[in-house]
Amino acid sequence: MQQNQISMATPVTLPCGQVVKNRIVKAAMEENMADKQLQPDHALYALYRYWAHGGAGMIITGNVMIDATAMTGPGGVVMPLEGDLKAFEKWAAVIKSGGAKAIMQLNHPGRQMPREIGEVAWAPSDVPLSLGRYTKRFAKPQPMSCEQIHQITHQFAQAARRAKEAGFDGVQIHAAHGYLLSQFLSPLANRREDEWGGSLKNRARLLLNIVCQVRAYCGNHFIVMVKLNTADFQRGGFTAQEATEVAQWLAGLNVDVVELSGGNYESPAMQGTAQEGFAVSRRDAYFADVAKQISEQADVPLMTTGGIVRQETVQQVLDNGCTFAGIASALAFTPDLMRKWQQKPDYAGIKPECDWQDKTLASLVKMAKVRRQLRRLGNDLTTMHNPTGFWSLFLDILHRRKMTMVYKAYISAKIKETIAPMQPEVTRCVSSPVVSDVASRDL
Ligand SMILES: Cc1cc2nc3c(=O)[nH]c(=O)nc-3n(C[C@H](O)[C@H](O)[C@H](O)COP(=O)(O)O)c2cc1C
Repeated sequence: MQQNQISMATPVTLPCGQVVKNRIVKAAMEENMADKQLQPDHALYALYRYWAHGGAGMIITGNVMIDATAMTGPGGVVMPLEGDLKAFEKWAAVIKSGGAKAIMQLNHPGRQMPREIGEVAWAPSDVPLSLGRYTKRFAKPQPMSCEQIHQITHQFAQAARRAKEAGFDGVQIHAAHGYLLSQFLSPLANRREDEWGGSLKNRARLLLNIVCQVRAYCGNHFIVMVKLNTADFQRGGFTAQEATEVAQWLAGLNVDVVELSGGNYESPAMQGTAQEGFAVSRRDAYFADVAKQISEQADVPLMTTGGIVRQETVQQVLDNGCTFAGIASALAFTPDLMRKWQQKPDYAGIKPECDWQDKTLASLVKMAKVRRQLRRLGNDLTTMHNPTGFWSLFLDILHRRKMTMVYKAYISAKIKETIAPMQPEVTRCVSSPVVSDVASRDL
């Protein structure tokens, strides 16, 4: 290493003034482990305790929903816009217990909402996902009105304010991977002809408004991050040039870190395998090359996530102009990867693999393998070196079913709470099964 070269262990001061102890960030991974009230409980605390003492400088939670009727999947955590925050306070305290900054990722799924959730999928336009025989697994989207768009902006800002109240050091606004804000950015999913669609400025308006409101509610010393696609990896989609422009605008709004990723459910570049005809440029640190180009044009701290399992790759990412290296899957297999690197610099973390022919199924298997590790850590069990694809998928499906029942029971109870005194005969068409034991999680 040359003298003065930035290394994994170099601390950094963010534009908001907060100091992060090193350059490794645990990237967001949806855990699908919320309790019956869609809040964090002992399982999430146990999981995050591993990461808190694993050595990362910042820890980003799995995506937390800003609205209980707009879920990326069952078992997701929802930030309540009122009421007590004890469960979230405890979560923040656990995350910060080893000196890392606690960042809550906030998200809205838009059209990427599974049909089993049973709610309307509000999106920029009525363009459904195109996933071949899996398309029917997603709710058909309906275009949002201007009022709804303003409401969403407000909900993101309120959720950020609540995260701050609960003790989080910052939030990350999820504008990548084909969820609502990424849909607005993409000309493929956003066909609007009003001030929210068409030009890049219009498509980025919602994201920029949210960032401004979050800053206004949370103050100048709060960490505000954005996760942004470097591209959709689809013909006619959001491009790297557009990502550079959006990163420049975010720099102008004093965003503390822009995390660069790519792709969506149709083209899962974030897993290293994009739609046919498109590819990420490297097998490790998938977005490091484009991050270098963006860093030359946008004056904002960057982080790139995707495919990083080696310390050597972290150094390349930092040398490419990024301030942080983000790691997700490898930290599910080895939560203290950074400490391992300190003892054994050439230690290689584990990436979930699956060579099944059906690409969508293979992608689900990889996710299932990771989620299995998260559930094991949440139950204070050791992680598995090489979980089988079939069993991981099977257990994931079982867990998902259980979580769907929990979700429907929650929504059903909420609806009864709101409308029962006035109109006892009106009920929503959702099943409300008795969920005997949420805590007995499948392993
Ligand atoms: C099980 C699982 C859940 C994920 N959930 C989220 C999420 O909630 N928010 C997000 O921005 N990215 C999510 N991701 C994507 C990761 O943050 C990351 O961008 C991607 O996995 C590539 O990084 P990696 O190769 O280090 O895993 C998830 C990934 C996995 C495997």
